[in-house]
Amino acid sequence: MDITRPDRRRFLLAAGATAAAGVLPLQVLAAEAAAQRIGIIGSGRVGSALGTSWAKAGHTVMFSSLDLEHDKKLAAGIGANARAGTPREAAAFGEILLISVPYGALPQLGKDLGGLLKGKMVIDTCNPFPNRDGEIANWAREKGAGVASAELLPGARIVRAFNAVGAARMAEAAQRQGPRSGMPMAGDDAAAIAVATRLVRDAGFEPVLVGGLAAMGKHLMPGTPLAGERSPEDIRKIAATLN
Ligand SMILES: NC(=O)c1ccc[n+]([C@@H]2O[C@H](COP(=O)([O-])OP(=O)(O)OC[C@H]3O[C@@H](n4cnc5c(N)ncnc54)[C@H](OP(=O)(O)O)[C@@H]3O)[C@@H](O)[C@H]2O)c1
Repeated sequence: MDITRPDRRRFLLAAGATAAAGVLPLQVLAAEAAAQRIGIIGSGRVGSALGTSWAKAGHTVMFSSLDLEHDKKLAAGIGANARAGTPREAAAFGEILLISVPYGALPQLGKDLGGLLKGKMVIDTCNPFPNRDGEIANWAREKGAGVASAELLPGARIVRAFNAVGAARMAEAAQRQGPRSGMPMAGDDAAAIAVATRLVRDAGFEPVLVGGLAAMGKHLMPGTPLAGERSPEDIRKIAATLN
């Protein structure tokens, strides 16, 4: 991306301004500071790792998947800050949702959740892989994963994050000592970005907002220059070269 392009420059200026605590709207600051109710849809490797970290950080999580018994056991093992429900219950419970399912499940999930997604902040970890997800993955790759997810989850205020770091690293990042790895994020909604920023930090990573969903969402998946674990500074440098 050409950082000298006016739209890119405007985005970075706006993002920088939003990140400066002094000018954040009060409701965004409040959301950033408060413990959140988080609905987790997809409690597999990623959902269980992040949900566990967030519960330990003081948030309240509801796990959901296609297997309620699994989610009840997962929640019971974590304690008072975790519970289990159906995907619709988790979507209603969460002020913010983590959606972490195989990409091929998104079209049906979007229909199942319907109006519950309207206006909801959503962190989208889902990556399209044709060999796992079928034709929808080719469509999403062509369109760009950020925009594609937004189309499949209508009304959701999506932030892409946690897309190209292994779930095993997510599981232990909050306990790790030393400098934190950066976590690239892309989104368009200031309040959703603010809450996601807090949650990325509580999961043990340093958040790096790299751009909007259309421009940068497509770069947040495995196999791109931003994939893998990098320092925040390296993420910023790489993001500035992408378009
Ligand atoms: N694994 C990684 O290292 C990693 C890293 C970054 C991003 N990602 C991406 O994040 C997403 C999740 O990855 P994962 O490794 O956590 O997958 P996973 O271990 O296979 O877990 C997927 C979860 O989604 C649930 N699920 C499937 N269809 C559903 C539906 N229609 N409604 C509700 N829940 C549904 C599954 O429930 P059941 O078990 O009951 O079927 C399971 O809990 C994928 O898109 C993946 O590409 C993965």
